[in-house]
Amino acid sequence: PVENVLVTGGAGFVGSHVAWLLCELGFRVTVVDDLSTGHRAAVPPTASFVLADLRQVGTINQVFAERQYDAVMHFAARTLVGESNTRPIDYVRDNVGTLCNVLQAAIDHGTRSFILSSTASIFESRDGSDIDENQVVSPGNPYGESKRMCERVLFWAERSHGIRTAVLRYFNAAGAKPGGDLGEDHRPETHLIPLVLQVAQGRRPHIDIFGNDYPTRDGTCVRDYVHVLDLADAHVRTLIALRSSGALAYNVGSGAGYSVRQIVAAAERVTGRPIPTIMRPRRMGDPAALVANSGKLRRELGWKPLHSDLQTIIRTAWIWHSRHPGGFGSSCLPFPPGAGSPS
Ligand code: UFG
Repeated sequence: PVENVLVTGGAGFVGSHVAWLLCELGFRVTVVDDLSTGHRAAVPPTASFVLADLRQVGTINQVFAERQYDAVMHFAARTLVGESNTRPIDYVRDNVGTLCNVLQAAIDHGTRSFILSSTASIFESRDGSDIDENQVVSPGNPYGESKRMCERVLFWAERSHGIRTAVLRYFNAAGAKPGGDLGEDHRPETHLIPLVLQVAQGRRPHIDIFGNDYPTRDGTCVRDYVHVLDLADAHVRTLIALRSSGALAYNVGSGAGYSVRQIVAAAERVTGRPIPTIMRPRRMGDPAALVANSGKLRRELGWKPLHSDLQTIIRTAWIWHSRHPGGFGSSCLPFPPGAGSPS
């Protein structure tokens, strides 16, 4: 039988890529999103779409009344580390409140499985070693704290109500669906790779580098960039695993760490354009280094990151940005020179 999956935040960057993959695999997908940061055009055409604010309990119950969902994937959240330092109460209230609303409705309506988008930001920075699921959870910013709270809510809900849960801690989601029609479009953009590519496009004069005095190889922050298609694949594997198990938690990253300077250099190579930089002070709440150990996901669910080498991440993102310079809703241009084949 066809499984029904409710994808909250399915108009956002990661949620839309997962929704597309689910549709391609034959799941029946309903996307619910308030479009506060997502885009209607990112939602796959075969998915049902509901425009709703998940902070309103009444609206959520209406969504659940329409269809019996086998699983919920909960992406809808505020997700910016930097912004969370200036709006800590909004981050906790909206992220934890929304999760509670959707989870309660899922339990009330007999949904079997629930997958939460969590984050590497629940962990402390580790300079020498990568981060597996046994690492101490210790968020360094309100965003990570809100997701830690969400994880705890899920833990108790599974114990008390039996709903099967999984948390996926994404490291830095990046890249785009090959083909150039689906990608990352935040307004305003704050993420490193899209910003660097906007500089390459001539849409920004330079990229600010936030801090060069971290205890890392070149003094700039190190992150683990994981391709959004590999994240999507992790979701599908987790969805299937939840048919026979529960209380799952996985760290999802490529296992390779790159500094801000290395990202800039790699983007210069891929685009063939100069990317000027300006040194700035540290951004509050940024850990020095976050690199995943995803051995558990590989061992238990057979996951392999197939698209997460840095060249593929930046090349697919560059195709998206080149074909849609203004993001969703802007004209579709030809493939950029040197971008290689669309797939
Ligand atoms: N950076 C700059 N200049 C910029 C933008 C970013 O130097 O103009 C640096 C940041 O300081 C950071 C790195 O580039 O060291 C990556 O920054 P992003 O803003 O792209 O991403 P974050 O690591 O802050 O956060 C992202 C997601 C979170 C997620 C986290 C997991 O936004 O939702 O990855 O590591 F939790």
